[in-house]
Amino acid sequence: MIRVLHLSDVHVDVPIWRMPLRELLGKRLLGAGNLLLRRRPLFADARAKLEKLARFAEREAVDLVVCTGDYTALGTVPELEAARAAIEPLARRPLGFVTVPGNHDLYVPDTLRDSRFERIFGDLLGSDWPEHSVDGGWPAVRLYDPDLAVVALNSARPNPQPWRSSGRIPDAQLRALGELLADPRLRGRTLLIATHYAPRLRDGKPDRWNHGLENADELLAVCARAPRAALLHGHIHWRYHIVPQSGLHQFGAGSATHAGREGIWLFEVEHNHLRAVPGGFEGGDYRLDPSAAVEF
Ligand SMILES: [Fe+2]
Repeated sequence: MIRVLHLSDVHVDVPIWRMPLRELLGKRLLGAGNLLLRRRPLFADARAKLEKLARFAEREAVDLVVCTGDYTALGTVPELEAARAAIEPLARRPLGFVTVPGNHDLYVPDTLRDSRFERIFGDLLGSDWPEHSVDGGWPAVRLYDPDLAVVALNSARPNPQPWRSSGRIPDAQLRALGELLADPRLRGRTLLIATHYAPRLRDGKPDRWNHGLENADELLAVCARAPRAALLHGHIHWRYHIVPQSGLHQFGAGSATHAGREGIWLFEVEHNHLRAVPGGFEGGDYRLDPSAAVEF
């Protein structure tokens, strides 16, 4: 059995004065204002909580960690570096760590110009099948013998307009995912497909045009070809599980650190069987709720 911890949207907090002044323009300036006024109190304990989550992972004998992005608020280098350091104990679980960026990590176009996410999180981004990567290393595939494969898709992009935080999985990645799913080497494995954006909200409906995944229907259509798959995502700061009409189990981890709403999932993967146990933060520590487990 392989035990997989899914977390997301940790939004590690760094004081504004540590961010490069020349980058605090445009959308980041608005974002910095929002951070000071509204977000900071919600994520002030993010680092302390990640330390607790690492101890939880130790206690629960977690083999592998999957994080679906949004490590930062504004995608600056000091924030990415602080977040990478904060997850280091989780990155050292026996089977490692799989991740994708979130929209906050690629906040505005300067994040792409210097490839800062790849630079700072690069050691966690490799693929076992680079021949299937078409779009800057995506999709990335990791195989965990004999029963599990994780596929990471990048759905995040900079959104310079202040009113938009939507995402899209580039068509080339979706085509590559379709080809991957037909690869006979995946036969008999449970597939965890990880990306930042949610194709569907908790009520089964698509998210708003300016907040959701633009090509959610296309993603669900491709994923429906996988015999045993679950989609893992973040972006929406509530933990939930739904099975949309396409039949694909969708697990949103919410945010592991958002005060009062902390969420995680623990997946136990065995041959032809997946058990997903939701978790939260209560009484100062992370705890699982086995009575609400989902199995298929
Ligand atoms: Fe997000």
